[in-house]
Amino acid sequence: MNYSDKKKRHAELSNLLNAYAKQYYIFDDPSVSDSEYDLMYNELMEMEKEFPELKSSTSPSQKVGAKISRDFKKISHSRPMLSLENAYNEDDIANFIDRVKKLSSLENVDLVLEPKLDGLSLSIVYENGRLVSASTRGDGFVGEDVTQNILTVGSVPQKIEHSPAKMDVRGEIVMMKSDFQELNRQREQNGEKLFANPRNAAAGSLRQLDSRITASRKLTFFSYAIVSDEADFICQMDALAALKNFGFIVSDRVALCRNQSEAFEFYRKIEEERAELEYDIDGIVYKVNDLSVQKKIGESTKFPRHSIAYKFPAEKAQTTVLNIITQVGRTGNITPVAELKPVTIGGVVVSRATLHNKDEVEKRDIRVGDRVVLQRAGDVIPQILYPILTERPANSIPFEFPMTCPYCGSALAREENEVAVKCVNLNCEAQLVERLIHFASKPAFNIDGLGEQNIKFLFEKGAVKSPVDLFYMEDRNKELHLEDWDGWGKQSVENLFKSINAARQISLDRFIYSLGIPQVGRAASKLIANFFRTYINFFNCIKNREGARLGEIRGIGPSIVNDFNGFFSNENNLNIVRELCGDGVSGGVVEISESKTPAAEVFSGQSIVFTGSFEKFSREKAKELAEKFGGRATSSVSAKTSFVVAGENAGQKLDQAKKLGVKIISEDDFLKIIEKI
Ligand code: IVH
Repeated sequence: MNYSDKKKRHAELSNLLNAYAKQYYIFDDPSVSDSEYDLMYNELMEMEKEFPELKSSTSPSQKVGAKISRDFKKISHSRPMLSLENAYNEDDIANFIDRVKKLSSLENVDLVLEPKLDGLSLSIVYENGRLVSASTRGDGFVGEDVTQNILTVGSVPQKIEHSPAKMDVRGEIVMMKSDFQELNRQREQNGEKLFANPRNAAAGSLRQLDSRITASRKLTFFSYAIVSDEADFICQMDALAALKNFGFIVSDRVALCRNQSEAFEFYRKIEEERAELEYDIDGIVYKVNDLSVQKKIGESTKFPRHSIAYKFPAEKAQTTVLNIITQVGRTGNITPVAELKPVTIGGVVVSRATLHNKDEVEKRDIRVGDRVVLQRAGDVIPQILYPILTERPANSIPFEFPMTCPYCGSALAREENEVAVKCVNLNCEAQLVERLIHFASKPAFNIDGLGEQNIKFLFEKGAVKSPVDLFYMEDRNKELHLEDWDGWGKQSVENLFKSINAARQISLDRFIYSLGIPQVGRAASKLIANFFRTYINFFNCIKNREGARLGEIRGIGPSIVNDFNGFFSNENNLNIVRELCGDGVSGGVVEISESKTPAAEVFSGQSIVFTGSFEKFSREKAKELAEKFGGRATSSVSAKTSFVVAGENAGQKLDQAKKLGVKIISEDDFLKIIEKI
């Protein structure tokens, strides 16, 4: 590669890595695997070592928090850490209050209003008054172990008197505005990259593998809830008072409101004070004060029904619509998308915005060439609010929604009472591809090296049409000869087969998620998997068309049950499940491990070293399994190592283990321990 090629490659890598980091940090939705990210990041670092002048301020190497590190141990939460439903206006709040009244059969409900702190949510577990662990929210079920870092935060009590024997304190880690300014002042002095806002600074300071760095930053923990079976507080106000007594910080801008107008008054007061507060807030949380009412009205898969966040108005910006395209989703829905002249809103560059559906784009009459007002609602997904009609070009024409699928050309259809216009051709290739992308994605089968591009390629070449084909691809490669295709080569094909084979073992919840049943996302998949426990229970249910049983699951409503039944009423979908995992009598190409409760932590507190190469799982997977069952995978052998799992051609580490008398087991032994649970 000559210098100009390198420069080009460097720019390309910077763009990609910045986009991936944004997806990961801002949207919490990684678009590539960690290893893919690391490979590209290392390539970039190598280039910058060779040509330091490439290290511009926009390079990912100069950005705080751009390096993805997942080396934290995982911790399962005692109860899921949900998020809050958002309200954007007084009507939304009025509806919320009406719904609470209806669900609780009460005529009046007292509400507690608290500032919505703009930081990171945290769960801190205390046993017999001692802090035992602290973890981030993660996916809501499992978070990252940040205990060592939290022990350095002064506002977190490490010992508590007269607390319940076991309690989980929930709250938000923030950086005070003054501490943020001081930190950035120091960083500027040292020529280091500045943090964009206090939230990023708090995140970057907490997610440090070296707790000395966290200790050097000033973080503050605000508590807002106690999760404990033993606590018997009557109301949220009492819980907050108890937290204060235990030594936690609780926001001093909290109000008990007896009715809607009191609540709106408080909201407006805080909105006015917002700029003067010592910490960033992005709205007000409305909570039912009476905890027995909270318990009674419960939660959906994503949100509690007893609380809602009334956000402060979103930031706005203007830009131009360059084009309107239509996309086909994995369930056939056709979504119009506006391609925009890139514009920055609240620190994020936006170049696309969904126009939702046919009605929406027609009703709002948004056209190519229009100047539009954009806003980031709920802080992430940009929305087009309206076109500025006075600036509309004279020759503009209304957008014409296609009558046929933009991909396969089939006529589009629309079900009664549905807003979505759909391509109903089950074999529409765009849908098949989208389904495959979903199937191989990180939260599903997590197949390294099978991203959007590669799947499209394999599909176009006829190597894969359905998820089942993926698992036969290695056998079929005698005819396919993937290694001879452009841009592939022997090594990458071997790696691909390795990742596919490593993915043959999967938990039931990930498997259910991978199927792409409409409305069955990660949270619903976990609930369904917990309900069935084993694959065979799940399979019998779908085979016998007993999907209505899902209605018994707390958090699964009739609309999900309906979509679930609709999905499996299609024989083809049932067959895919059967071919993948078998029918209980004969097996399939994939094996489901039962969903385990966190209690099944056979490797709890143990440190495990994997060495050599393995047949049945990849290194990544081995590490994941060790962690899933409570252990920690470490890279070097010492006297403290609990045991070593030795694969083929294990070398130095195996010798070291023998020398130190550390227990050595085989790959099969390791799997047997897990299978016994
Ligand atoms: S109550 C079900 N109270 O907002 C979650 N959350 O969008 C109940 N947050 O993840 C949380 N300030 O990190 C609650 N006073 C407050 C809060 C608050 C900030 C965060 C929290 C949560 C997110 C929900």
